[in-house]
Amino acid sequence: MSNRKGQKEAVRAVAVTGSASGIGAAIRARLEADGSRVIGVDLHDADVIADLSAPAGRTEAIAAIRAACAGRLDGLVACAGVGPHVEPGATIASVNYFGAQRLLAGLREALALGASPAAVAVGSNSASMPGVDSPIVAACLAGDEDEARRLALELAGHQVYAGSKLALLRWVRRNAPTPAWAGAGVRLNAVAPGPVRTPLLDGGLAHPLYGDAIRNFPVPLGGFGAPEQVAAAVAFLLDPQSAFCSGSVLFVDGGTDALVRPDAL
Ligand code: NAI
Repeated sequence: MSNRKGQKEAVRAVAVTGSASGIGAAIRARLEADGSRVIGVDLHDADVIADLSAPAGRTEAIAAIRAACAGRLDGLVACAGVGPHVEPGATIASVNYFGAQRLLAGLREALALGASPAAVAVGSNSASMPGVDSPIVAACLAGDEDEARRLALELAGHQVYAGSKLALLRWVRRNAPTPAWAGAGVRLNAVAPGPVRTPLLDGGLAHPLYGDAIRNFPVPLGGFGAPEQVAAAVAFLLDPQSAFCSGSVLFVDGGTDALVRPDAL
């Protein structure tokens, strides 16, 4: 890869969780096309095979990523997730919040040694819908996975899903400006997609309760998004061009968040 002056640039090492499917696979393809070396993490078809739903798998994934990048990571995308239809609901909390948050926190030091380092969490615009804030958000942010899993069993899947994503986005905003992240030169940002054509969305569309809710979701630009459109937003937030972005939540949702909360700022 060469920069604008034609000088050779070092290949960037970027870890991407959930790289085997959907949005994560599109992120992998986009970053590789841009010249990065991707360390994919997933349950299958990845450089690092790990189950991020449980502490042991997260620890293994962090160690394997560190080994693959010799301790210096330039980018990290926490994308692995499961949909609101997945049972038991405790798995949604464990993968979508704890699987993402633990990897971000566990690889922060490796990122601090990288070049123009940046991390991106994949949230969801479900996090900004009315009525989403609930005790499960507080349990996640308190780091209490047992309590979050217990609460998840009492809630509907869409409440667990949106709550886990709200907690993840809040964690990003709380941590991005701290000395450990911004102070160490590591940018931490997020994307919040709306409905995007992937196997996860297909699972929701096929669900007897969620199918119509997803189909009737108001999307001002119309239709569903493509994984490549989310990948483009992630690529921007990882790129040194976005060097002044920290704590941003970039909605890639066809305008739904703006429709629902026009005066949120
Ligand atoms: P997908 O189902 O196509 O891909 C998700 C990937 O995560 C799969 O490869 C899967 O194996 C992996 N994964 C799941 N559980 C895992 C675990 N325990 N350990 C390791 N890897 C695991 O789904 P999609 O749609 O690409 O989702 C990616 C992210 O985007 C998720 O965090 C999802 O919540 C988020 N998102 C998706 C939207 C959509 O409409 N597709 C909308 C908003 C957010």
